Amino acid sequence: MTVDEMRRELQRRLKKERFAHSVGVANTAVKLAKKFGVDETKAYVAGLLHDCAREFENDALTAEAIKRGIEVGEIEKSVPLLLHSYISARMVTEIYGVDDKEIIQAIYRHTVGAKNMTPLDKIIYFADMIEPNRNYPGVDKLRTLAEKSNDLDEIILTAINESILFVIQKNALIHPATIDARNFLLVNSE
Ligand SMILES: [Fe+2]
Ligand SMILES: [Fe+2]
Repeated sequence: MTVDEMRRELQRRLKKERFAHSVGVANTAVKLAKKFGVDETKAYVAGLLHDCAREFENDALTAEAIKRGIEVGEIEKSVPLLLHSYISARMVTEIYGVDDKEIIQAIYRHTVGAKNMTPLDKIIYFADMIEPNRNYPGVDKLRTLAEKSNDLDEIILTAINESILFVIQKNALIHPATIDARNFLLVNSE
């Protein structure tokens, strides 16, 4: 599939707002890719398709995961929405014909993060938080940081801290992968 065909197929499958969010993430990811020397096409495709499994309603996600042999862990049992990242990482191949491992991994990791994230993983995680349709307290602070900082690790660490603070405020579960992501950044930053 060409990138244009991917975009048309995605538009057909997603609700209007979800599609607009996806295009916002794709465009934001390209800007960040330019700034940080990451492959712009990969950034665009990963951003565009990161939420492709959101074509399913939340209560269908567990069944869709099981159908694909995706392990449903303790946290995912209680927060099935998290499964959309792992299902999206499969659907990019199933539906959109993407077999690039870096794109697949960035999509897989976009919600909870992971230890040892690649620049592409970081860009997609962050673009998802700041794309122009996003509106929440603190988003402008992150957008400003993205413009001012030349340090992708500083940007992603701030973003992960914000995510963890948000989850704590809601008294919700913190995924261990998010803690791994944060610890790895702290241990490996100079
Ligand atoms: Fe997502
Ligand atoms: Fe998203």
